[in-house]
Amino acid sequence: MKPRAFRSFAKINLGLEVQGQLPGGYHELKTIFATVSLHDIVEIEETTRGISVRSDHPGVPEDETNIAWRAAALMQKIAGRRRGVRITLHKHIAPGGGLGGGSSNAATVLRALDRIWELDLPKPRLVEAAKSLGADVPYFLVGGPALGLGRGDLIQPLGLRLADRVLLVQGKGGVSTAAVFRQFAERAGKNPRRRRSPIDMFVQGLGGVSSLRNDLEPAAIGVSPDLGRVAREVRRVGRATGATTAAMSGSGSSFFLLFEGAAQRVAAGRLLEKAGVETLPCAFLSRRAFRERFEIPRPLPKRR
Ligand code: C5P
Repeated sequence: MKPRAFRSFAKINLGLEVQGQLPGGYHELKTIFATVSLHDIVEIEETTRGISVRSDHPGVPEDETNIAWRAAALMQKIAGRRRGVRITLHKHIAPGGGLGGGSSNAATVLRALDRIWELDLPKPRLVEAAKSLGADVPYFLVGGPALGLGRGDLIQPLGLRLADRVLLVQGKGGVSTAAVFRQFAERAGKNPRRRRSPIDMFVQGLGGVSSLRNDLEPAAIGVSPDLGRVAREVRRVGRATGATTAAMSGSGSSFFLLFEGAAQRVAAGRLLEKAGVETLPCAFLSRRAFRERFEIPRPLPKRR
């Protein structure tokens, strides 16, 4: 069997509000997810048995601690027959950067094996499998603009079109999501509760993306003070170039800027580069594009 290749897109959180703590150590969230064009490529080849994972990024494990490995194991169990799989991860999404790279890879494995093994699992079965792998995984079964509730794993697609141009600042050193939530919980007393949720207003069409906030940003900067400098640079450049939004994604360490015009985005990229901050222009993806651009038709692009 020849390998098949799939795009595994990144997400950003346009806004993220922490509602409180849940039993079991998780936090209740309200978040707006959006898919961006940045993606890993996940190659999948059927084998007779076992699971193997290879990656071209030194920070990504190749054993059963890799979430893509666990996704494959879960699908083997669900399929109930002895089949193997060889997974190759071509990483472009910075690991531990709040862009959902690992979660996206896991959801890609679920969707791809459902297709390759012709299981055609009912949607709720895939969602259940995704939830058991991690809080961000179910979003990547849906893609596009969506509201995330609960642990961030209850997904409600939103019927809106995001036209802004995106400039990503991918986090270098990954920040541990668990450490950021711990830090948040320690600081919780210091965070005054907002009376109205900007996300509720946004969902009702009463506020724009620029009104959204990420409650985890102070905690992420507390965990990794270097992030404070990046946050300041990103906002300074955003103001100087007319960005509509400058914010952190997920639990960090990535940031993003949104622009109405292409020239402003180019200007911001140059200014950030001068300040020693690497950037990556990308686009928002609709839910339809997320679905349609999933599998890469053969022949596979040349390995880099
Ligand atoms: O589900 P995932 O493995 O991505 O979560 C990593 C960690 O982040 C969890 O173990 C938990 O400590 C924290 N977390 C949380 N509340 C959430 C999502 C994650 O406290 N809604």
